[in-house]
Amino acid sequence: MQKENNALNQLEVSKVHHWTPSTFSFSCIRPDNFRFRSGEFVMIGLNIDGKSVLRAYSIASPNWHEEFEFYSIKVKDGPLTSKLQQLKEGDRIIFRGKPVGTLVNDALLEGKRLFLFSTGTGIAPFTSIIRDPETYEKFNEVILFQTCRHINELEFGKRTVESIFKDDLLSEIVSDKLRFFPTTTREPSQYHGRVTDWLKSKKFEEVIGNDLNPSEDRVMICGSIAMLNEFKEICLQKGLVEGSNSSPGHFVIEKAFVD
Ligand code: A2P
Repeated sequence: MQKENNALNQLEVSKVHHWTPSTFSFSCIRPDNFRFRSGEFVMIGLNIDGKSVLRAYSIASPNWHEEFEFYSIKVKDGPLTSKLQQLKEGDRIIFRGKPVGTLVNDALLEGKRLFLFSTGTGIAPFTSIIRDPETYEKFNEVILFQTCRHINELEFGKRTVESIFKDDLLSEIVSDKLRFFPTTTREPSQYHGRVTDWLKSKKFEEVIGNDLNPSEDRVMICGSIAMLNEFKEICLQKGLVEGSNSSPGHFVIEKAFVD
């Protein structure tokens, strides 16, 4: 299946993990010859009452991986996620094979540090990017943030980062270039608060060492519309220019889709 393929296909579910009462991840067996860039999303879904119900989902696994991994919230009464959360190994989902997205290395200019700012399931494209060796060819440092209300919601990200350092090959490539800051807003933890508030105060500089700087920092942002707007405003104020696939820049944004 090639990138331009827009037809509906089926994928077999190989693994399901429920992380919290409101989040779960699942993996599917990757179709032969399917190519995508780490950070991109595809349309996936189910046939429900004779209709294809599809939503955009970031591929949470990197582009070299044999599995497609997705990380989802469970929306009570949500047309798709209320059904998707019942998936079991061996079930099939439907899939439109055209990967797209702006949270890709190609949409950023060369830089030294890559900041990945996410809230909730917005971490999904970044668990792809932090496992892609190309990211570490392009950047000397990769700094991932995930902000959630509670500590238990950070587990998917923590486990993914841990898995990098358990992998012989990847841990050698990533080495000490990756840092992860899981932060909570409604429960005390090691790092507390919204990162937008850190950036508006001195806290970001205190934790990271220096402020965002367009000459060497590149930024990807994924979360709710309100979160994106706030981060975008901060980036623009600090002199960063928004990029896209056709015109790479200093920062790129994308909505965390299913809500
Ligand atoms: P807060 O608890 O202060 O609202 P949600 O579960 O509502 O999607 O939020 C996920 C996380 O994103 C929460 O920790 C929330 O913080 C944080 N958040 C929500 N809106 C923003 C924003 N505009 N900027 C930064 N973080 C945000």
